Amino acid sequence: MPDAAPFLNVSDFTAGYKRGLPILHGVSMHVNSGEIVTVIGPNGAGKSTLIKAIAGLVIVEGGAITLEARNLLGIAPDRLGRFGLSYVPQTANIFTTLSVSQNLALAARRCRAAPETRIAAMLDLFPALAERRSVRGGGLSGGQRQVLAIAMALIAEPRIILMDEPTAGLSPKASQDVLELIGKIAGDGVSVLLVEQNARMALGISDRAYILADGQNQMDGPAGDILDDPAVAEIYLGGRRKGAA
Ligand SMILES: Nc1ncnc2c1ncn2[C@@H]1O[C@H](COP(=O)(O)OP(=O)(O)OP(=O)(O)O)[C@@H](O)[C@H]1O
Ligand SMILES: [Mg+2]
Repeated sequence: MPDAAPFLNVSDFTAGYKRGLPILHGVSMHVNSGEIVTVIGPNGAGKSTLIKAIAGLVIVEGGAITLEARNLLGIAPDRLGRFGLSYVPQTANIFTTLSVSQNLALAARRCRAAPETRIAAMLDLFPALAERRSVRGGGLSGGQRQVLAIAMALIAEPRIILMDEPTAGLSPKASQDVLELIGKIAGDGVSVLLVEQNARMALGISDRAYILADGQNQMDGPAGDILDDPAVAEIYLGGRRKGAA
């Protein structure tokens, strides 16, 4: 049954790092319940800024943001977890000097459920992390680090996760694994807002997509339509798809 209102709704966002110097100029987008929505666009388009604006980390000078019709604007970033929103930054998303268990324990501090229960749930869900629970974050492979960062976001039982380039720097195989994991997370009912350079792969697991350029909405639609659009492929996806006419 379709939702009456979008789950996450961003409307007419004007936001940036300095007052009076916005990077986003009236960006609007939404994520429906259980959807994977990907934001693509050239370097410097404002994709990370959009995610950071939703996560309360940059200055929003205009517009609105709601999660299930509840206002999120002005809510301190560390309180957004209580609203069901988790954010996985692109870099520095784990503590490299702490063990896997210690990373999870830190992330579990704000859980509603007992932290031990949630840590055990994450170790059950991610056997590769369980095997390496005593390993320091800095000793994990790139793919394992991203899995740990995602586990640290999932531990709070969010209803929506924002992820900024979770496949950056990963091999094609590790990227595929991370995107498959994201697909599974959404399959379990958690909405995902994804920013990806790896646009083709990300669109392959997404329901819908937005293209941002110069801090503005350029285009949006079903991920399949965006993938199949020849102009989009030429400009944003690194050329036409193999085998396409
Ligand atoms: N901390 C910051 N302070 C000031 N300006 C910034 C900051 N971070 C980014 N910007 C500027 O904001 C604009 C948008 O950057 P943003 O990081 O949102 O782009 P992006 O679409 O995520 O790019 P990329 O694909 O390279 O990650 C750029 O002009 C960038 O220089
Ligand atoms: Mg970015």
